[in-house]
Amino acid sequence: MASKTLSPAPLRPLLSQSSQKSLQCLRKRPLQPLSHSNANTQPQPQRRHISAYGYEQAKALTFSQYGEPSGVLSLHSHSISPPHGNLMTLRFLASPINPADINQIQGVYPSKPTFTTALGTADPIAVAGNEGVAEILALGDAAKNEGFKRGDWVIMKGPGFGTWRTHASATSKDVIKLGDDARRGITAIQAGTVSINPCTAYRMLGDFVKLEEGEWVIQNGANSGVGRAAIQLAKTWGLKTINVIRAREDDKDALKQNLIDIGADVVITDAELQSQGIKDMAAEWTSGGREPIRLALNCVNGKPATAMAKLLAPHSHFVTYGAMSKQPLTIPASMLIFKDIHFHGFWVSKWAEWHPEEKKRTVEHVLDLTRRGEFRDMPFEEIAWEWETKGEELIQAVKGTLEGYRKGKGVFVFGKT
Ligand SMILES: NC(=O)c1ccc[n+]([C@@H]2O[C@H](COP(=O)([O-])OP(=O)(O)OC[C@H]3O[C@@H](n4cnc5c(N)ncnc54)[C@H](OP(=O)(O)O)[C@@H]3O)[C@@H](O)[C@H]2O)c1
Repeated sequence: MASKTLSPAPLRPLLSQSSQKSLQCLRKRPLQPLSHSNANTQPQPQRRHISAYGYEQAKALTFSQYGEPSGVLSLHSHSISPPHGNLMTLRFLASPINPADINQIQGVYPSKPTFTTALGTADPIAVAGNEGVAEILALGDAAKNEGFKRGDWVIMKGPGFGTWRTHASATSKDVIKLGDDARRGITAIQAGTVSINPCTAYRMLGDFVKLEEGEWVIQNGANSGVGRAAIQLAKTWGLKTINVIRAREDDKDALKQNLIDIGADVVITDAELQSQGIKDMAAEWTSGGREPIRLALNCVNGKPATAMAKLLAPHSHFVTYGAMSKQPLTIPASMLIFKDIHFHGFWVSKWAEWHPEEKKRTVEHVLDLTRRGEFRDMPFEEIAWEWETKGEELIQAVKGTLEGYRKGKGVFVFGKT
């Protein structure tokens, strides 16, 4: 399989000059009022659990060994001592449940969490969750000198921090501050879900091939968080998308319409993708191939992924970033030899580690588009986490996210903690 190592990040994705221009125009537009369904989801005041000595009381979903979430997760209570130096005490506001979080608990994700006794247990435990937004409750002088202050919102710099918890102790090196401008008009859920799915879509659309306006991208898992982000960013950048969803008994047409409403040009099921006549249909959508399909984004694998690759124009790029079907990716040799299709992998965690400044800029750009009403929220299932919420309820909610055909991504939304 041909592969390409990720090149050093350019200042912007590899969009054509005309697309770049339209992006600049977008940036200059006046701000639009928010039109999101949960735009009012703002953080709740903290229910103070601070001892006389300034210790913060915290709860976290933790595990001491790998396994299925329902078998290994438990709710652990501990206290956090007052911060000094570059330490800060965080209170989480919103933390999503992503497929990678589940894989990490199962022990099959390459990024391993830190198992530690620092939370007051005899045996080492790890806190689950990789993404989220938190506010700074208290901080040491060195952290203040680095430009942080009480009330700032921060997101995680990389994976493995442990975000399914009410509070945490972090160093300034663990987090990225969302400046006042970046945060303005943004809900906790939007901030807490911006750094993985939208960033992944953003980089994959821009970093592998320079696309001209009017050219096509094809993707599977189109109703996932990444897929929905890709649809919207592609639309913003003047690209057209063919979107593959899994065939389903119920609400297939409603889902297709929903994706069209956020900017998809074509939505088909994986069964339709593999049916006879798909090449003719693709030729019709792309004006007989004059508007080539030059990029494929794959998070599914198996036969539907191979079928997707067959629709690519010669010399195109096929980026794999997930493996939801747990099937291998099979590539006919002819695609490499005669069509010169370039196959790549993408992992946003590694990309962010290599390009921390670019990650910050990407996040800020997506938040900017969100603020302008040009990047809409994916559907969410909010899971309320109050101080009194029982561990079983939270673990049950995590278990629920393992099922397919869901209405939205599960997000812990922290209330009065
Ligand atoms: N490489 C990276 O840097 C990176 C970053 C972010 C995400 N990802 C990966 O991208 C994928 C999507 O993540 P997400 O957070 O966007 O997902 P999500 O919003 O939680 O949605 C899950 C998606 O997976 C689909 N799905 C579930 N089970 C499936 C199966 N057995 N076969 C095919 N599709 C299935 C769902 O389709 P239905 O509605 O039909 O169930 C849905 O589209 C995951 O594999 C994730 O690990 C990778």
